[in-house]
Amino acid sequence: MAFDTIIKGARVVTSAGVTSCDIGLCDGKIASLATELSEAKEIIDARGLIAMPGGIDSHVHISQPSGPGIEMADDFASATRSAVCGGNTTVLPFCLPDGDQSLREAVAAYHAKAEGNCHCDVSFHLIVKSTDPVTLGQDLPALIHAGHTSFKVFMTYEGLALSDRQILDVMAVAREQNAMVMVHAENEDAIEFLRDKAERDGNLSPVNHARTRPVPVEREATHRAISLAEIADVPLTIVHVSNGESLDEIRRGRQRGAKVFAETCPQYITLTADDLDRAGFEGAKYVCSPPPREADDWDDIWTGITGGDFDLFSSDHCPFRFNDAAGKDAAGARNNFRNIPNGIPGVETRLPILFSEGVMKGRISLEKFAAITATNHARLYGLTSKGAIMVGMDADITLWDPTITRPVRQSDLHHGADYTPWEGFDVTGWPVRTILRGKTVMRDGALSGDRPVGHHVARSTPDLL
Ligand code: URP
Ligand code: ZN
Ligand code: ZN
Repeated sequence: MAFDTIIKGARVVTSAGVTSCDIGLCDGKIASLATELSEAKEIIDARGLIAMPGGIDSHVHISQPSGPGIEMADDFASATRSAVCGGNTTVLPFCLPDGDQSLREAVAAYHAKAEGNCHCDVSFHLIVKSTDPVTLGQDLPALIHAGHTSFKVFMTYEGLALSDRQILDVMAVAREQNAMVMVHAENEDAIEFLRDKAERDGNLSPVNHARTRPVPVEREATHRAISLAEIADVPLTIVHVSNGESLDEIRRGRQRGAKVFAETCPQYITLTADDLDRAGFEGAKYVCSPPPREADDWDDIWTGITGGDFDLFSSDHCPFRFNDAAGKDAAGARNNFRNIPNGIPGVETRLPILFSEGVMKGRISLEKFAAITATNHARLYGLTSKGAIMVGMDADITLWDPTITRPVRQSDLHHGADYTPWEGFDVTGWPVRTILRGKTVMRDGALSGDRPVGHHVARSTPDLL
């Protein structure tokens, strides 16, 4: 059989383990895995490289409405360019209705923004911020049927936070439709209480963002979210878990029989609240929610990763420019941490940070890396043709060079932000080629091909692992 492409000589990370073999690609699919393949239009010499399932980042924010005068640093072109340069082949951004837009209108608007502009495949999670009868009774079920099989609810943020009753009503729809509920677990009332106190005391610098969102704020909400899911009898994913106490709530929930999945992110193994206390306004570069904790918390997160408590390692890419009044330097941000837009960029650095800190430092295996950066994302969010190097799957493959050691530099990255929180952070291992449905979309840090070939993927219901 003649293949379109053969990838020759890589160490290949499959669901069955790591093996040395050739990979034959045909019509955008993985057609063969065998010790010696020949005859193809294109042969990629991958000796010395590692072939991984293309990264799936199931937690990114792109072109998301962010309030008056504030604009995200990335549109679909720049975010997906950055994603493929960081070894990803699929990203799942959140679709947030703008103002009083309906969920259906919001999804249509996101499709219009993404269409023709994506360098990797995309699929949208929904954000449910309103629980009126049309949203819950019509829009949500219709959108789930159309392949948007997961949605996020917030327990924090003014205008987004839902009450416990509302969360239960949303969970009831998820149960009915077999969709996945994702929860941002932080207690809004507790944050508001602490913020008001910080303001009265004149504690207004960026680090007070972290001080007004301490661990109990997240731990309590994590416990409550799991309890609500038990009451509604639905599986749920707790996103961006930042610390061991919240993880303990997840472990306890699982011991009771709750079907809880957990996600963590690079910021919770590499950054601390002290980063928000950097001189001047620099701390604003690290403002995200939940905030980075203490170095001791990194150990708890690693224990969770190595012990199998975390199913997903995502970026929570939520980019704002630093030197920009439409970004971190928004009106009033220098005078009060409340006004600093929440979120940090990271879609391009997620995989290199985990590869370096996890695989190269001997904390996790290549198989574990593939599971928490691709395979589990595909299964939990219903991407049935993605996430594994297996015959019949989409030919979404990233080639890694484990010998490259380099510092992360903003000047080398491809996102729309003007900084990276990891400036100067040394990593070993870097993705050198990203292949999307059989086509090379990134080679040695540059985009390949003359136009974006990513498309939207409709998803099935979750496979609960
Ligand atoms: O700070 C963050 N994480 N911003 C993005 C929105 C969210 O909560 O995921
Ligand atoms: Zn969140
Ligand atoms: Zn997020």
